[in-house]
Amino acid sequence: MRLTTLLQNTHYIDIDKEKAETLNRLTGDRTNINIYQEDCNEVLVKKILPMLQYESKKRALCILDPYGLHLQWETIMTAAKLKTTEIFLNFPLMDMNRNVLHKDLLTADADQIERMNKFCGTDEWQEILYKEDKQMGIFGDPDRIKIVNSNIKLGEWFKKERLQKTAGFKFVPEPMLMRNSKGGPLFFLFFASHNETGKKIVTDIFNKHRKYL
Ligand SMILES: C[S@@+](CC[C@H](N)C(=O)[O-])C[C@H]1O[C@@H](n2cnc3c(N)ncnc32)[C@H](O)[C@@H]1O
Repeated sequence: MRLTTLLQNTHYIDIDKEKAETLNRLTGDRTNINIYQEDCNEVLVKKILPMLQYESKKRALCILDPYGLHLQWETIMTAAKLKTTEIFLNFPLMDMNRNVLHKDLLTADADQIERMNKFCGTDEWQEILYKEDKQMGIFGDPDRIKIVNSNIKLGEWFKKERLQKTAGFKFVPEPMLMRNSKGGPLFFLFFASHNETGKKIVTDIFNKHRKYL
């Protein structure tokens, strides 16, 4: 995860010791670069984002790029409320599809469902993506079967209901769907901002690259 303010202070966060040590080696003794080997959900919410209150006149770009469901909704919400900070967000479709969004939700582990709830800040995704099947499942509950085009529906819901309505980001362009070399969906790349110029620049970039994906 990386957060850069306009005065070029950069904060890199990685929970992994080796990665944080590599970053430390690469950046040497530069004083405007801060490296944290910590959980980004703790360090962003408690230490870094509080420095970016609107009155501080600081502005920042925050890149949230987890491989999987490691981010918590509170972190996104804290950044959004400041109105000083734009975010890029990897929305980890691959982890979601492998571990949570099974064809029948009843077959997913409760812990994995909880990771998804924490990332989204709600369990409403279940209503968006699953329909009850009248046929009873093995535990006597009705099966909960995934709808078709679930990735697209999930992306649309997260953009409108979570980033725009709940977090209050004014501008959220259509996300870019990133795929692996075999064409499988890896993640949606979202950008969210309170600033129209940021949206225009990122929309141009996304549109330019979208046609190659
Ligand atoms: C996609 S990689 C980031 C790559 C890096 N930004 C780059 O450009 O090379 C995701 C990283 O998130 C780290 N990570 C996972 N959970 C984390 C957490 N809760 N807090 C901070 N870092 C985390 C992993 O150790 C991993 O290095």
